[in-house]
Amino acid sequence: MSINNLERNYKKNTKHSNLLYQKSLKFFPGGISHNIRFFTPYPFCVKEATGKYLVDVDSNTYTDYWMGHWALILGHSPQNVSLALSKQVKNGTLYGTVNSLSIELAETIQRLMPKAEKLRFATTGSEATMYAVRLARAATRKKIVAKIIGGWHGFNSSLLESVNYPFEINEGLGLDVDNKYIKSIPFNDLDTSLQLLNNVKEELACIIVEPILGGAGCITPNNDYLQGLQEFSKKNNIIFILDEIVTGFRLSIHGAYKMFKLDPDLFTLGKIAGGGLPIGIVCGKNEILSLSNPNDKTNKNLICSIGGGTFSANPVTMTAGLKTLEFLQNNKKIVYSKINELGAYTRKELQKIFDENNADVKITGIGSLFNVHFLNNNVREINNATDVALADKEKLRKYHFALISKHKIFFLPSKMGAISYQHSKVDIDKLLNSTRSIIESKIL
Ligand SMILES: Cc1ncc(COP(=O)(O)O)c(C=O)c1O
Repeated sequence: MSINNLERNYKKNTKHSNLLYQKSLKFFPGGISHNIRFFTPYPFCVKEATGKYLVDVDSNTYTDYWMGHWALILGHSPQNVSLALSKQVKNGTLYGTVNSLSIELAETIQRLMPKAEKLRFATTGSEATMYAVRLARAATRKKIVAKIIGGWHGFNSSLLESVNYPFEINEGLGLDVDNKYIKSIPFNDLDTSLQLLNNVKEELACIIVEPILGGAGCITPNNDYLQGLQEFSKKNNIIFILDEIVTGFRLSIHGAYKMFKLDPDLFTLGKIAGGGLPIGIVCGKNEILSLSNPNDKTNKNLICSIGGGTFSANPVTMTAGLKTLEFLQNNKKIVYSKINELGAYTRKELQKIFDENNADVKITGIGSLFNVHFLNNNVREINNATDVALADKEKLRKYHFALISKHKIFFLPSKMGAISYQHSKVDIDKLLNSTRSIIESKIL
């Protein structure tokens, strides 16, 4: 089956989605509310989701590996969360005041991640990373922020730099001209990173890094990379920020920092911590977070003014987060061993299928996360975002689109997949068989 046939097939099966997408274009620039949600010829339109499934308006049912931007570790609308939410919505959706649920969620997070000495709740991950950077600048009274080439920390303006290949040109209109206070460093290349950092260390406020490069392609860190950055930070009084918005509660219930034996000054959480509702959290050392305390008079009323915002710590998100973390905590052995074993099985078997068919592919990932990279003459290894960008992304898009169109398996084209507690070996075997059939039908 050719890609044209796949598109024809997709269009035949998603007529209502097509009509709604044309309507969507009248309201939203590009017809979408998040840049990455568009894919050609048009994205299907979802009407409902439960467990591991998404159902579109034409009643196609997809096994979902996008899982709400990788946030839904327990699947769509898990029963314990839905039941608690239906009670909570009758009991207030936005108090706009201090509330006990937010204290309970903070207490739960701190118990699981003791390095969260203090926390501030916000509504998106983008805000959390923006506040983390602002706190770091406040704590050091320095301006330069080091980030990873290809690192994604949301749409906050300070970190919208070196996100898209070739990682050198301005990320877009409306940003500060060439973001002169950002220093971009290459993931997994410690020597070059340290050299670049060394050049700016006098002015360097912080280094922000995702433990796993997620949005850039699902790349794990080399042995000493994260430790090396942390060591440099400690030695030079630079704030070390770990962006755990994807990895927090996914790689382990205690976060990637525990797994990689790291000691971040600040770290950010989001996604899973909100149990399927909007959240962002900046956490970390008391002495740094306390710079945002509006009642602290020792600073001559000069505080680091970070938000929260109208919807921060709303009782609905707090309830969903609490119920999700409660479930993860009470069932941590079965949840994490299940999703991590399925992840390992997926990576191993996918690699085997591509190898057996002489397809030049590298599977990356860790725990319940994985992605496929089609290698070529220029790219033989996947160690950083440049490797991902120079690999054959068109083949990856075709592969993911073939899964959607022909096999009703959903990955957001080119993005990594996430396994939830709802997935089973039967689902993974279906993914493996579908992959085999796609390779054999010479679509790629
Ligand atoms: C590592 C990381 N940080 C921050 C963000 C931004 O979070 P949000 O989309 O909730 O603003 C994301 C989103 O995917 C992310 O992957």
